[in-house]
Amino acid sequence: MPEIKKLYIETFGCQMNFSDSEIVGSLMLSHGYEMTNGPDRADVIFINTCSVREHAEQRVRRRLKELSILKKKRPSLIIGLLGCMAERLKETLLEEESLIDLLIGPDAYRHIPDLLSTVESGQRAVDVLLSEEETYADIRPVRLGSNGVSAFISIMRGCENFCSYCVVPYTRGKERSRDPGSIIREATGLVEQGYREVTLLGQNVNSYTWNEQGKLVDFSGLLGRMAGIDPLLRVRFATSHPKDLSDELITVIASYPNICRSVHLPVQSGSDHMLNRMNRKYTREWYMDRIRAIRQHIPDCTISTDIIAGFCGETEEDHLETLSIMTEAAFDFAYMFRYSERSGTIAAKKYNDDVPGDVKSRRLDEIIRLQQTLSLQSNEKDIGKIAEVLVEGRSRKSQHHLSGRNSQNKVVVFPARDFKPGEYINVRITGCTSATLTGEASADRT
Ligand code: 5AD
Ligand code: SF4
Repeated sequence: MPEIKKLYIETFGCQMNFSDSEIVGSLMLSHGYEMTNGPDRADVIFINTCSVREHAEQRVRRRLKELSILKKKRPSLIIGLLGCMAERLKETLLEEESLIDLLIGPDAYRHIPDLLSTVESGQRAVDVLLSEEETYADIRPVRLGSNGVSAFISIMRGCENFCSYCVVPYTRGKERSRDPGSIIREATGLVEQGYREVTLLGQNVNSYTWNEQGKLVDFSGLLGRMAGIDPLLRVRFATSHPKDLSDELITVIASYPNICRSVHLPVQSGSDHMLNRMNRKYTREWYMDRIRAIRQHIPDCTISTDIIAGFCGETEEDHLETLSIMTEAAFDFAYMFRYSERSGTIAAKKYNDDVPGDVKSRRLDEIIRLQQTLSLQSNEKDIGKIAEVLVEGRSRKSQHHLSGRNSQNKVVVFPARDFKPGEYINVRITGCTSATLTGEASADRT
């Protein structure tokens, strides 16, 4: 019998990329490969990459250097580079990184087994063609590094918003939604395996649309159907674009207790001038109107955001407007970044990346410090409350504690008892940091 080949996949970047790695894993399993959880015993290593910021690409380059040592020791080792960096840099990457055997863009994963045969015959292989249809709808992803409790489901691919700073429309291509029937089947299968939480993923889930025998299914419709699968299944989603966040969606979230009370709504900047240059297609006023609508109809909802510091032409006043919208919106959590120019984007062509590095860093620092205060304030408000926590496993910091999340997507840590991952436990919150809530499990399970 031929020896079963072992595959190791390492993922950089966003949740979408983790979800893609699970699709690739599944394709490879059905072609006779076996997954392994480290590079040392692998016959094939795939690095699934991110291009969203220069920093993300640098991390991948460093990792490739480390892997080149392994490849020197074992020349038969096959190294494939997948995802956004493959798409952005194409053949130039093969010239720059001699250890790469295989270069595969986000819409070409089905061709990997064929391409591997090319590599095994001694050639390097590339497929970076983008597709207008590929959604991998029929592929049941393997769950890599899973806790058996929560899983990602990709509901759409690509992006056509063309925010001026962003490389994603170029690396992930046209926006396309996935058949709702296949999404529901995937979620139902997960429930049968004991999963208790799914996160629906897309670059802009609010523009999800599918024509089902003449009837349009939009994101609100899909979300309602997902929530109806099982009241014990929590449903999350990311990411929402503020321009498309409808009142109807807010109503759907409010009407199902198992749709999680947390919305990720990237603001990027608090200044209308910057928002305009970023091609975000909304104003500060519009954004704040959406925040008020969420807070009014779903009072216990947390709101998280993404913020970019030091975009082209950003003045001190623009920056102060970002700080003020953070306080006004009272964000519960934020991902915060220094602007990093990506070649080929509208901003790279049209604007000067003119905010000096030290100013970008100082502004980012101020943003991070303010968010720490806001996150702490948000968490302090929970002290004394009971949180319904879905247990995910042991706390990373202490074997004697369990960790899980509440509906608001806050991490809650509490002393371990005989609770198991996947159980819902009522926890009385007794303390917090800006990142975590701590508490005691109350006597009764929920
Ligand atoms: N520079 C810095 N941050 C960026 N993002 C996207 N493109 C860039 C860039 N060129 C951030 C945005 C986006 C998140 C995924 O990454 O905030 O919402
Ligand atoms: Fe995800 Fe965007 Fe990074 Fe691609 S570039 S991995 S879509 S964050």
